[in-house]
Amino acid sequence: MSNALQTSIGALRLKNPIIAAPAEHMVDAAGVRAAIRAGAGAVVVKSNNESAAAKDQLQRAEYIALDERWNPVPWGPQAPRSVTLATRSGMSPQPFDAWLDQTVALDRLARAEDTLLVPSLILGGMEAALGMAKRVEQAGLRVLEFNIGTPYASQAVKGAVSTELSPARVAEIVTQLRAVVSLPVWIKITGQSERVPELAEAAFGAGAQSVVMAGRLLGMVPDLDSFTPVLGTSLGIGGYWNLPLTCHWLALSRARLGPAASLIGINGAQDGLDAARMMLAGASAVGIASNAMLRGFGVLTEAVDQLAGYLAQKGLTAEEIIGRAADSRRSFADMPLRTDHWRAFIPPMGALETREN
Ligand SMILES: Cc1cc2nc3c(=O)[nH]c(=O)nc-3n(C[C@H](O)[C@H](O)[C@H](O)COP(=O)(O)O)c2cc1C
Repeated sequence: MSNALQTSIGALRLKNPIIAAPAEHMVDAAGVRAAIRAGAGAVVVKSNNESAAAKDQLQRAEYIALDERWNPVPWGPQAPRSVTLATRSGMSPQPFDAWLDQTVALDRLARAEDTLLVPSLILGGMEAALGMAKRVEQAGLRVLEFNIGTPYASQAVKGAVSTELSPARVAEIVTQLRAVVSLPVWIKITGQSERVPELAEAAFGAGAQSVVMAGRLLGMVPDLDSFTPVLGTSLGIGGYWNLPLTCHWLALSRARLGPAASLIGINGAQDGLDAARMMLAGASAVGIASNAMLRGFGVLTEAVDQLAGYLAQKGLTAEEIIGRAADSRRSFADMPLRTDHWRAFIPPMGALETREN
């Protein structure tokens, strides 16, 4: 089973494609240990940066689960699968030095479990980010995830976090990073763009080993009684419904960059079958963040098992499914002619006509 699940991100091998992606359950060492023991192929720790405002934001953070009618439901494993999560989040509360020490200690456990431990920085200021990246490399960590596409930059204090929207700027940032570190870097980019493949191309062109696509979007839900936005403002929103958007970006990026570019899918994966869907769209590995924060670390174990079951049933390895659906995408004009087929998809007109006559 373990060989069938193996995948690669650039030169790094993962024992399986399920990545425990960062959110608040990855702040404490206990959470990261739980994700490692749950069997994820890689575990990304809660991000850090130098911004006091970004840390302050965590202490003002708020989280809500909404059902399909936008009514709140209790936070926890009993929440329906169709839930939308709306959040304001912030940075790791730990000072960088303590965070780095904790991450290095956790990397020892991760190595023993054949898990890739991934430190994550979020771009606040470039100079500080370069300094922290160097420290990450000097500490012997094996990879660095650099998030330049959080949903919150337009809402947060200036310089706290970044939502980079220009390919030229992505290229410049990654070039600067590559000039100071030689460890593999994964660049996490925004989904708040119609140019996700171009952003990815810029990151790879400047030396990224992988691109994580794509960050969540901002949204706002008005409350019908208070006439105010739910949780007071615009929020990062996520849910199962994000999966098709992620798969679309993965497929377009694969078409643009070719199969050699290792893409990591994130945003909307709930379980192992969703991971398979993102892999079919072109991901070499798939992050699961909020579903594990909401329901617990068992989500990760179940995702690995479910993906293994799917692959066994198909008689394929993880690497053999990557990009299969993306590569069979066709244009609308290539679709077969089905004259008047559209009529089967509109409401019945009979009753309406009788009333009007
Ligand atoms: C509460 C919360 C906190 C998050 N914190 C981080 C973070 O520190 N660093 C990061 O790169 N992404 C962070 N994310 C984004 C997730 O890693 C992930 O990209 C996003 O939630 C979409 O994936 P999902 O559908 O599996 O949740 C956070 C998301 C949530 C909901």
